[in-house]
Amino acid sequence: MPQHDPRALLKDGMARHQAGDLDGAERLYRKAAASRPADADAHNLLGVVARQRGDARAALRHTGRALALQPEAPVFLANHGGALAEAGELREAVGFFRAALRRRPEDPVALRNLGQALAALGDAGSALEPLGRAAALDPDAPEPRLALAHARREVGDAEGAAAAAEAALARSAPDSALAAQARFLLAALGRAAVPDRAPTGYVRDLFDGFAERFDADLAGGLGYRTPELLAATLRDAGAPAGEGRGLDLGCGTGLSGLALAPLVRRLEGLDLSPRMLALARRRGVYAALHQADLLEWLPGHPAAFDLVAAADVLNYLGDLRPALAGIAGALRPGGFAAFSLEAGEGNGGAPFALGATMRYRHDRAHAAALAAEAFEVVSQSEATLRQERGAPVAGVLMVLRRRGRGG
Ligand SMILES: C[S@@+](CC[C@H](N)C(=O)[O-])C[C@H]1O[C@@H](n2cnc3c(N)ncnc32)[C@H](O)[C@@H]1O
Repeated sequence: MPQHDPRALLKDGMARHQAGDLDGAERLYRKAAASRPADADAHNLLGVVARQRGDARAALRHTGRALALQPEAPVFLANHGGALAEAGELREAVGFFRAALRRRPEDPVALRNLGQALAALGDAGSALEPLGRAAALDPDAPEPRLALAHARREVGDAEGAAAAAEAALARSAPDSALAAQARFLLAALGRAAVPDRAPTGYVRDLFDGFAERFDADLAGGLGYRTPELLAATLRDAGAPAGEGRGLDLGCGTGLSGLALAPLVRRLEGLDLSPRMLALARRRGVYAALHQADLLEWLPGHPAAFDLVAAADVLNYLGDLRPALAGIAGALRPGGFAAFSLEAGEGNGGAPFALGATMRYRHDRAHAAALAAEAFEVVSQSEATLRQERGAPVAGVLMVLRRRGRGG
C-alpha cells in the first residue's frame, strides 16, 4: 500500500477500526488527513474515534472540520450532532440530527439519536415518533426499542413501554447490559423480578443525558434540598466541621459537594457518570474526583475517610447491605456516614421496592436495623427531598457513626 495514498490509508484505517483497533485506526486516519487536509472523510472518521474514546471536545473539532468541508453531507451532520449530544449540547444536537434527517430521512441511527436527545431534554412526547421510526427501520436492533420503552414510560404509557421493553429484551443477548436495562424497566413496571440494584449502564446513561440540565431542574423547579438538609443533620449530630477527609458518594454535578465541603478539610467525589463528573470538576469544590461504581470502589479504600455522604444516591440501590458494608469499611472508627433514602410506605413489609420512577424506596426500620450492624444510628429524620410531578417526595435522612475506637 503506498503510504501517501489517502484513500488506501482510510480503507486500511477502517479495517482496523472495525477490528476494534482504535489506536491503529486513528494513526492511519491522521496520516490520511495530513497528506490530504481537505479529505472530509478522514476528519469525520477521526471524530468517530474521538467519540468512541469519550472525548467529546476533540470529536467536535474533527466533525466540525468535516462539516466545514462538506456542509451538506448527512453522515457528517449526524456525526456532529452525536458529538454535540455527548458534549451536553442537546439543543444544538437536535438541530443537526434534524438537518441530517432532512437529507436522509431513513437513517435509523440519526432517528434514535434525535429521539434520545429530545427525551433527555425532557420532551419524551416528541421523542416517540423518531424512536418508533428508528425501531421500524432497524427491526433487529434492541437499542431503539429500549429508548422507545423509556419514552413511553415517561409519557405514562405503561402498556406500550412494557411491549417495547419486551421487544428490546427479545433482541438482546441474555447477559448483555442492554438486557439488564430492559429487565430493570420491566421490573419498574411491575412485569419482572426486582433486581438488587439499578444496572450501572442505566444509571450512567440516565445521568449522562441529564447532566446539563440537572442543576437547573433540581435546584430550580424541583426544589431539591437534600444536600443542605444532610449537611444540617450532620452538624446537629455533632460531626466535626472543617476537619478530616470526606467522600461525596454519587457526587453528581457537585450540588452536594457545595453543602458538604465546609464539614471537612478535603472533599473527594465519586460518581458513575462522566458527564456529571465533568460538571463537578468545574465547580472546584473537590480535591479529587473518581469515576466508579461505589460498590466496587469502596472496598478498595479501607478506613480512608472521616465522613462519607450520599445525597439522593442510595435510591439507585435496592439491597442496602453491600453499600452500608462498603461505607463502614471506608470510614475510620468514629467517622460519620450520612445519606438520604426515599421513604418506603407501601413496600408491603419488604425491605425495598422499585417504584415506577425507576428508583428504589426503602423501609426505614429495615434500613436502620441493617445500619446498626456496623454503626451507631445517630439520627434518622423524615424530610421532603424534592418535588416530583408537583408532589413532594418523602424521604429519610440518616446519620450514622462508625463503631470502634474514636466512636
Ligand atoms: C440524583 S444524583 C445526586 C447528585 C448529588 N449527590 C446531589 O445531591 O446533587 C445521583 C447521582 O448518583 C450517581 N450514582 C448512582 N448510583 C451510583 C453508584 N452505584 N456508584 C456511583 N455513583 C452512582 C449518579 O450517577 C448521579 O450522578
